[in-house]
Amino acid sequence: MNWIKSPVDTGEGAVFFDRRIAWRGRPEHVEAKVTAMGVYNLLVNGVRVNKNVLAPGWTSYARRVQVQTYDLDGCLLAGGTVTVEVGRGWGVGTIGYDNHVHHWSDHVSTAAEITATYADGSRETVSTGPDWTVRAHPVLTTDIYNGETIDTTFVPRELGRALIDEKTFPTVPQIGEWITTQERISPVKAFVSPKGEKIIDFGQNLTGWVELNVKGPRGSIIAFDHAEILDKDGNFHNGNYRSAKALARFVLNGEKQTLFPRFTFYGFRYIRLLEYPFEEVDPSQFTAVAVHSDMRRTGSFECGSPLIDRLYHNILWGQKSNYLDVPTDCPQRDERLGWTGDAEVFVRTAAIQYDVEKFFEKWLGDMALEQGENGEVAGVVPDALRDVRTRISAGWGDAATICPWEIYRAYGNKELLRKHFPMMKKWVDYIHAAGSEEFLWLDGRHYGDWLALDAPYGKCEGATPTHLIASAFFARSCELTVRAGRALGEDVGEYEKLYQNVVRSFRECYIEDGRPVVKGAALKSDPKNEPPYSTPDTQTSRVLILRFGLCAEEDRPKLAKQLADMIEKNGKHLSTGFLGTPHLLHVLSENGYTKLAYDILLNESFPGWLFSVKQGATTMWEHWDGIKEDGTIWPDSMNSFNHYAYGAVYDWIFGRAAGVDVTEPGYKRVRLAPEPDERLGYLAAGIETRFGRLESRWEYKDGKARYRFTVPEKITAEVVLPDGRRDVVSGGVFEY
Ligand code: BGC
Repeated sequence: MNWIKSPVDTGEGAVFFDRRIAWRGRPEHVEAKVTAMGVYNLLVNGVRVNKNVLAPGWTSYARRVQVQTYDLDGCLLAGGTVTVEVGRGWGVGTIGYDNHVHHWSDHVSTAAEITATYADGSRETVSTGPDWTVRAHPVLTTDIYNGETIDTTFVPRELGRALIDEKTFPTVPQIGEWITTQERISPVKAFVSPKGEKIIDFGQNLTGWVELNVKGPRGSIIAFDHAEILDKDGNFHNGNYRSAKALARFVLNGEKQTLFPRFTFYGFRYIRLLEYPFEEVDPSQFTAVAVHSDMRRTGSFECGSPLIDRLYHNILWGQKSNYLDVPTDCPQRDERLGWTGDAEVFVRTAAIQYDVEKFFEKWLGDMALEQGENGEVAGVVPDALRDVRTRISAGWGDAATICPWEIYRAYGNKELLRKHFPMMKKWVDYIHAAGSEEFLWLDGRHYGDWLALDAPYGKCEGATPTHLIASAFFARSCELTVRAGRALGEDVGEYEKLYQNVVRSFRECYIEDGRPVVKGAALKSDPKNEPPYSTPDTQTSRVLILRFGLCAEEDRPKLAKQLADMIEKNGKHLSTGFLGTPHLLHVLSENGYTKLAYDILLNESFPGWLFSVKQGATTMWEHWDGIKEDGTIWPDSMNSFNHYAYGAVYDWIFGRAAGVDVTEPGYKRVRLAPEPDERLGYLAAGIETRFGRLESRWEYKDGKARYRFTVPEKITAEVVLPDGRRDVVSGGVFEY
């Protein structure tokens, strides 16, 4: 396919590429293959025909751009005009830090091929080339971070013939899910803030855009920006978007119109009307449209606690908001990047709520393509921060082993695991070769237990030594690589030996008398890489040691008891960050402290999961105290209200509270071992597996828990109840 571009520089605006097609006869079938550098839509005779949005999606563009295929039998059998409209999107507009533009190209371009097939099997193909014409576009500016300006009075003038673009990109057929519009949400309220600003509240923080249905005077303007929260006085607050302007601006044409941004998206709950041609705000003109990858919903959950139900809702919306083609950290500020750490932390929960196999197949494929020769994996994939250079960090780069393993656990697809296996090994080889100590990971700068509360206020790196965390993840990645290799029938003898050595070194250097310490070779780590308040005496040290099986068996109860005591002393509160939190409740349950795990989960005061729920959150917050009890807000420099990482707790709710544990990948065999708690009254958690719907339910009646499991025929479930009763069941509903 030829890549074509505009003969004139169209700056921040979008552009139309047109081609009139007259077929030599009447074809039986017409199909278009289209892609772009930027973000495109496909139109036939001026009418948009693609149902997906934000195509071609976001990949490691220098290595592969996805091509989408559209059936055009409904509109192009008789010929007509084909148009590809392209806006700047991820590839050309602002992305990454420091208002960086043009990451992959400094101009938009497209490549397309439209093929007609005749009854006799012959074909006729029209491809992008110099016989396409280019027109200016009513989308005058478009940018992922800054938003879009659309002038519907604009008469698109011709800019000339398309030029063959010398800048080309490797193409591949669509791998991931399509990105599509999802829920439509009407405003819950329109109001004037104390500052006198007109605000519309959609009642749900989400990713997508606002659609306008409006008839206003020709040339009049509706413009708004976006926010996730109001401040404590009830004013619109978007300081946390940092440099992202997230604007939408429409010039109306006097007719009845349906308008929405075409090449960008926003993370928001509120909009603020900056320009509005009417006296009274009419909320019925505004509809929020959620946008995300079109994954199949698989999970279901409810329980007797409205607050936990709300938490579940927030976790779900965290995923919807951040699974837009790439697993992102957040959808609103000047970031929206495929942070590997965030993805790693949340992947297991993600795979319970939705079928994310294809979604990860694509993203992990990009990760493998971007993995360094030496095995390093950057902080973000696609690597939009390559000029800034992210840290090659433990807990982030380990997404290279953890995500493939979790996707295998969820779907049992060996071929996919085999595809990812070289990347897993390379990552472990990278750690093995990194720095001075062979069996520890002492060197380099890491993000550590990001945003943990054992750091002084305002600091992002938690107190747990980053080299302790790095060495723990070294063991973890090694272990998962061994398990993957065994599942694939590969010889992993070298990695088995390595794993044993890493665990032995870890024990020697980080554990003494059943307590986490730093000693021996670990003292060689560079103190410059650690925050001054660094200490191994943290919740997260113990959590990782226990969860990754790094201590001697006799030390297990001691470490668990210390952890439990720390939490009790802290008023049943956690102090963990990104890396400790996902494992905290698991570790407590695994060591006989399930009651305490529930105490933390159900704790309504700061810090804990229900704190943000009580503050009215509708998605997961980046910080445990994004908005504090007194209504003050964390510094805007790093304060997202739609960060899914802490939503990883659903994996404990599903895996421990409901007790659904996968014992043979893909849910072929499961263990159903619920650990109920009367405070919830009842709980029902289900998943649509590849073998059918699996559900675990319990309910308290007269102080006694009763259980009901729904198990598809093709799944064998081992039932283990808290009172010791056991059963092996399959195909049916089973009550105890
Ligand atoms: C992101 C995080 C990410 C981190 C790296 C932040 O700016 O929003 O979620 O993992 O940087 O520590």
